Amino acid sequence: MESENDIEKGSTENRRETMSIGIAADHGGFELKVQLVAALTFAGYLVKDFGAFELIDSDDYPDFVVPMARAVSEGKVTRGLAICGSGVGACIAANKVTGVRAALITDSFSAHQGVEDDDMNVLCLGGRITGSALAWELVLAFLNAEFKTEEKYIRRLNKVTALEKR
Ligand code: RB5
Repeated sequence: MESENDIEKGSTENRRETMSIGIAADHGGFELKVQLVAALTFAGYLVKDFGAFELIDSDDYPDFVVPMARAVSEGKVTRGLAICGSGVGACIAANKVTGVRAALITDSFSAHQGVEDDDMNVLCLGGRITGSALAWELVLAFLNAEFKTEEKYIRRLNKVTALEKR
């Protein structure tokens, strides 16, 4: 007989099979991206890597983050991960894309609450700030969280979305 844990595990596995994750990084986030792509793939997620594909110190985060953010906005991937050295530039660039709700995250509460309350769809990380073990915990918290479709959260989200229509 299936235990509650098995059911939970099963539903997590189903989510992994149906979720595709876009990921992008500049040179500052390159090493963390390599680690996260490997961990996500090993865990069974479908990963779409938007680069950078080699470590070039002079590359620019918008060149990788914006195409990934557009893929999130257009529904080509379910959620996105954007990484630069601090995570700040990646977050600013991602949020310029209509339909993207990106946040720079360094704690596990915000990693899931940002999805549950605010429908965050891009998690930004600082490759020079957050170590790989913590980053992986933040990514899992983000990917396992779902937007709570309560009236108050939808009402707030609609007020944010309205800003994009001006
Ligand atoms: C690149 O050196 C660095 O400025 C960039 O990765 C990022 O931290 C920007 O926010």
